[in-house]
Amino acid sequence: MRYRYLDLRRTEMIHAMEARSRFLHLVRQYMEENRFLEIETPILARSTPEGARDYLVPSRIHPGAFYALPQSPQLFKQMLMIGSMDRYYQIARCFRDEDSRKDRQPEFTQIDMEMSFVDMKDIQDMIEGLITYVWRGLFGTEPETPFRRIGYREAIESYGSDKPDLRYDLKFVSLTETVKDAPYEIFQRIIKAGGIVAGINLKAEIAGERVGRNDVDRYIGQAKKFGLGGLTWMRCKDGKLDSNITKYFTPEILEAIRRKMDAEEGDLLFLIAGPRKSTYEGGGNLRRKLAEDLDLVPEGEMQFIWLVDCPMFDIDPVSGKYDAFHHPFVLPENDLGDEYVGGACFDLCLNGSELGSGSLRIHDPALQTEVFRKIGMDEDKIMADFGFFVEALGYGAPPHGGMALGVDRFLSILLGKETIRDVIAFPKNKRAVSLLDNSPAKVDYRKLEELQIMTLAIEDMDFEDPENADEV
Ligand code: AMO
Repeated sequence: MRYRYLDLRRTEMIHAMEARSRFLHLVRQYMEENRFLEIETPILARSTPEGARDYLVPSRIHPGAFYALPQSPQLFKQMLMIGSMDRYYQIARCFRDEDSRKDRQPEFTQIDMEMSFVDMKDIQDMIEGLITYVWRGLFGTEPETPFRRIGYREAIESYGSDKPDLRYDLKFVSLTETVKDAPYEIFQRIIKAGGIVAGINLKAEIAGERVGRNDVDRYIGQAKKFGLGGLTWMRCKDGKLDSNITKYFTPEILEAIRRKMDAEEGDLLFLIAGPRKSTYEGGGNLRRKLAEDLDLVPEGEMQFIWLVDCPMFDIDPVSGKYDAFHHPFVLPENDLGDEYVGGACFDLCLNGSELGSGSLRIHDPALQTEVFRKIGMDEDKIMADFGFFVEALGYGAPPHGGMALGVDRFLSILLGKETIRDVIAFPKNKRAVSLLDNSPAKVDYRKLEELQIMTLAIEDMDFEDPENADEV
């Protein structure tokens, strides 16, 4: 990364840059053909709540006041709809101060779009059309449409993920009801505390026979790493389930588990149990690892999934506090007082990664205020942070909705890259450092003085330090 310009000379990098340029060109062509206006929105703006920390820019003219770099153009695109721009799009740069990962950079690019007078299907159709168009332009072929749809609850309960990779089967089946009366104390305790028990069946012909006792012990040893409290197993032998824990179950319950899991001779069952959220999440990690280890992921396949039927809120199981599941501008699907509130929002996933998310938006100022209140904002905070936006909605907003797709993520999967850095000309490293120009860096104290900024401490950045080394 220190000599990225030399790295860019490699054929592989040249191809990646060519593909990126062609990709963006095709996106623009499609959007123009479909009567979208390309409109730029401010980079110096007020913070938008996409859930990450903001990058702040101090104002010289107004000492002590800051702009925030946009985490996305969310509020501006909605205000464009209020401003009668019927269809908007932008290849938008977004900035989020969050920990970097293989599929996350502090600055990244979205294909951001918004449309008036649409329902969710209209937005999804438009995006499927866009992807088909780009695909044809890049590869001369077309992906299968319409993309498969899966409900949020099913995705979590069957695949342990809100971005399930359905290129392989391996599905969790709930056993909570089946084992609730088994005299196995661990399960009893978990179920009484509101937890879940679920199992995954490695069929004998696919994998079960290849996973021996030692492998099973190895997976059990890694349970904590997956985020699971523990992991147990059973194997179908001579028509019955057998393992070190079957003695704690009655023959009837074992038979019920066998039937529920559709276990046949030689099949291996892994059972997970614990608090609902963390256990399904851990189960998803186990599922991914099993698929990888057992070569169950077909090469070259692209599997698009619409994740639908999402909730409007995330509710903290301990504090009971409400948070927006996507963001607070999503249109709720039922009354906010109801026990469960659905959100008119969805994600697009590709091979187990989230490519983008979209929703219908609230266009009524009273309802928007009610949602802000529901997520714990008081009147003062609503006025201070979003007063301008609620006011804008009051001038008459058309029903509208839209979506944003991550360009870097999309390209890295299309091109089979390990990380999104491989499709970005000048990316930052894992510690959000650009080794090429040594940023972030200290600035001359006179510049700080002009901005009337005093720093408490500036850590000396040592780029030779292995901690700052450019590792993946
Ligand atoms: P969301 O926050 O889900 O939605 O972002 C949309 C898509 O942007 C990509 N993305 C990232 N890519 C690289 N690095 C990051 N740090 C990063 N963060 C997000 C992902 C993600 O799916 N305003 C809403 C969209 C809308 O409702 O219209 C939004 O930004 O591919």
